[in-house]
Amino acid sequence: MTQAPSTALSPNAAFTPRVFSGIQPSGGLTLGNYLGALKRFAEMQDEGFESIYCLVDMHAITVWQDPVALANQTREAAAAFIAAGVDPARSVLFNQSQVSGHAELAWIFNCVARLGWMNRMTQFKDKTAGKNAENASLGLYAYPSLMAADILLYHATHVPVGEDQKQHIELTRDIAAKFNHDYGVEFFPITEPVIEGAATRVMSLRDGTKKMSKSDPSDASRINLTDDADAIASKIRKAKTDPEPLPETLDGLKERPEAKNLVNIYAALSGMTAEAVVGEFAGKGFGTFKPALAELAVAQIAPITTEMNRLMADPAEIDRILGAGAEKADAIAAPILARTQEIVGMIRSRAR
Ligand code: AMP
Ligand code: TRP
Repeated sequence: MTQAPSTALSPNAAFTPRVFSGIQPSGGLTLGNYLGALKRFAEMQDEGFESIYCLVDMHAITVWQDPVALANQTREAAAAFIAAGVDPARSVLFNQSQVSGHAELAWIFNCVARLGWMNRMTQFKDKTAGKNAENASLGLYAYPSLMAADILLYHATHVPVGEDQKQHIELTRDIAAKFNHDYGVEFFPITEPVIEGAATRVMSLRDGTKKMSKSDPSDASRINLTDDADAIASKIRKAKTDPEPLPETLDGLKERPEAKNLVNIYAALSGMTAEAVVGEFAGKGFGTFKPALAELAVAQIAPITTEMNRLMADPAEIDRILGAGAEKADAIAAPILARTQEIVGMIRSRAR
């Protein structure tokens, strides 16, 4: 492995740089997951970071999941990671429930985190908005504590995520700091969120004020990594926009969320800055911009879809990869969990 870059390491100088991130296999993955997360996962691996990537099936069941669908979605998400460039030989790739330390550390963190902290979590509020919050699962409420456990079980220093996860990473930092303070140790790192790129918040194609999400009832609102070229092109063609041509500068997109979203997607897919995209298309209408965007999206997404389909044809091989990944993950996690339990005062005298 090449030397990991020493970015943003100041609070964690004593910890080896290590990347952890996770995605819920609660449905098919979207262009938002790809640009906000997957693409970054592969890039950080290629930059030389030791990387651990996880399909968080225990998080997924905080809302009802059909058992057969959950297993299939977990395999499909694993295939998407690999197709997007996560290499199971260089990164650790596994599903959360195969490493029991996640649940064990989460319990300890449930006893560190405060009810008041949980009550401030906007994702819980959003997921229960307009519904009877009394009927939400206890797991959904404790979700951020399990997420902190995912990260800190590996002493991860960097977590690449989309913008919507910022608050959860802040909570992870709070839990690490409170644990360290309460037990008088410097045991857990204060993890840095890595929220970078032109598309840390990809919006719905139907409503520029809503996040693109795998759980949106409208399929036209998102590009799925399983969409074929025709579907991708047609969704972009039908994406909501306004009648104005593209402006000369980014400032001109301020009050135009749908236009801004398409520009950001173009930037993220092409590796250009949003400024450069606006510079290239200034004065042109969506009749010109949308076909260019569709071509770019198809060129990037279609090979991923093809590779996912190839991998999905051999589910036993995916299960083998996840099993081998879980073993590697467990080897890193086990001593960290054991030390945590000792710090807390739990007797560990059982022969192992
Ligand atoms: P989830 O699908 O909620 O498990 O999210 C997995 C990862 O994808 C997280 O890092 C999210 O922040 C990221 N993500 C999900 N939706 C979007 C989006 N619309 N734009 C950017 N990143 C996203
Ligand atoms: N909560 C994240 C999401 O919905 C998924 C997740 C679970 C995660 N555990 C994590 C992301 C640990 C980063 C690190 O997007």
